Amino acid sequence: MNNAENEKRLAALEAVKHVEDGMTVGLGTGSTAYFAIEAVGGMVADGLSIKAVPTSAATEEQARGLNIPLVTIDDVDEIDLTIDGTDEWDDDLNLIKGGGGALLKEKMVARFTTKQIIIADSSKRVEKLGAFRIPVEVLPFAVNFAAKRIADMGGSGEIRMREGIYFQTDEKNLIIDADFGLIRDPYLIEHDLNQIEGVVCNGLFLDLADMVIVGRGDGVEVFESS
Ligand code: A5P
Repeated sequence: MNNAENEKRLAALEAVKHVEDGMTVGLGTGSTAYFAIEAVGGMVADGLSIKAVPTSAATEEQARGLNIPLVTIDDVDEIDLTIDGTDEWDDDLNLIKGGGGALLKEKMVARFTTKQIIIADSSKRVEKLGAFRIPVEVLPFAVNFAAKRIADMGGSGEIRMREGIYFQTDEKNLIIDADFGLIRDPYLIEHDLNQIEGVVCNGLFLDLADMVIVGRGDGVEVFESS
């Protein structure tokens, strides 16, 4: 396991200490959340009783393989705790997420969550968000329209491709990776992106994280929202 993988694992193992019997738990998506899901699976095998809300098809598949009892977001009114990864995070614990394309369910789950724990290796912290382009999920028929509106906002956008074809989200939408440079006012950008007809979700996660746990070397650092 390389250093980044080990940091992800350490952050995940620290985060799962917050999982308690009887909780409804949101399960994030990505290579960092993977370690948390694996650890939760071990806890379930040892007798922990929870129900979990997966944020993607990949997470659902992993959780099913570990016999973690699953429900959907529509089955619950609130989620006690969610553990998820991030692509960037800043000093205000604001995030850019969606590098893996699961931003829609991740954001819905985060909104329902009482305690949102973000886990990351030490490479994800930034002074200002925006070096990582903002994933913007759009309805397929609206993709060129949305790209033009992003340009009107002063950004630029590229439709995400994978292996030569358009990348599709679990919900069969497309993603525009939007570049606004380093972002001075993420709240304004988030608001304006949400005003574009055809946009389903954007990857700015503002005021949603309660704690960021970072693996660094052989230890972890914990940051809490003030
Ligand atoms: C999935 O859509 C994303 O939001 C991930 O949570 C994010 O991209 C972090 O992924 P890694 O943990 O794989 O870096």
